[in-house]
Amino acid sequence: MFAVTPDPTFRPRCFAIVPCAGVGERAAAGGPKQYHPVAGQALVAHTLSALARVARLDATLVVLSPSDDQFERHVPHFGGEHAWVARVGGASRAESVLNGMDELVARGAQPHDWVLVHDAARCLVEPAWVDRLMAECEDDEVGGLLALPLADTLKAGASGADGAARATTTVDRRDKWAAQTPQVFRLGLLQPALRHALADPVTAAAITDEASAIEALGHQPRLVVGNYENIKVTWPGDFALAERLLRTRA
Ligand code: C5P
Repeated sequence: MFAVTPDPTFRPRCFAIVPCAGVGERAAAGGPKQYHPVAGQALVAHTLSALARVARLDATLVVLSPSDDQFERHVPHFGGEHAWVARVGGASRAESVLNGMDELVARGAQPHDWVLVHDAARCLVEPAWVDRLMAECEDDEVGGLLALPLADTLKAGASGADGAARATTTVDRRDKWAAQTPQVFRLGLLQPALRHALADPVTAAAITDEASAIEALGHQPRLVVGNYENIKVTWPGDFALAERLLRTRA
C-alpha cells in the first residue's frame, strides 16, 4: 500500500478581488465614488495601496465596469505581475465578484486557493486588519469576514402617512453584527455559492456580501472583530470623514 505523504511545501495562494464597478449613487459624488478625491488621491487608490502592503496576498484583481475609462488615470501605478485589472463588472456587486473569480480561474487560480474580497469603497482598511482576518481563517473550514457586534439600537423603519421615516419596531441587537470587508473564502466554495445565489432573482437581491451567499448554502462564516474606522464610503458626508481619518494617520 502507498501512503500519501502531505507535501510540506504546499501553500494555497490568496488572491484579492476588489469590486470597483459600482456607480455609487447614494454618495451623490457626480460620478463613481471610487474615483472621488480623498486626502489627495482617488478613494480606490488608498484601498489598493493598503492591500499592496499585505504580504500574504499573492495578487490583487480589480474588477471594473466594462465602460470604465477612468481607472488608469486615477491609479496610474497599479499593474504588473501581481496587480491585475479586468473590465468584467456586472449589474450587481455579487455579479462583479463572480466574474472576477472567473478571471482568477483563467489566470490559474485553483479551488483550494483563498479569495479575499474587499470593497473599493472601504479606503480606510489597514493591512494589519486584513492580515488578522487571514490568520484567523487560515485553518477554518468555511472562511470568514471582518464584522462588528452592533453597538447601536436597531430600528425597523417605514415611511409614515406624513411621508416621514418612522420606527415601526426595535430589533433585538444582541446577536447582530455589522458585516464589513474583507471577507475571505476558498475559491471552490465561494464560486459555486455566488453562482447558486445569483441563479434565482429573489435570492440574488438578498446577496449583499460574499458571506450571505455562503450562509445560503448552510455554512457559518467566522466573524472576526473588525474596526470602526473600516467604513464603507456610502453617503455624501462620508468623504469628509474618510479624509479626516486618512489625514490624521498620515
Ligand atoms: O454600492 P456599494 O457601496 O454597496 O458597493 C460596494 C462595492 O461593490 C463598491 O466597491 C462598488 O464599486 C462595488 N460594486 C461593483 N459592481 C456593482 C456594484 C457595486 O463592483 N455592480
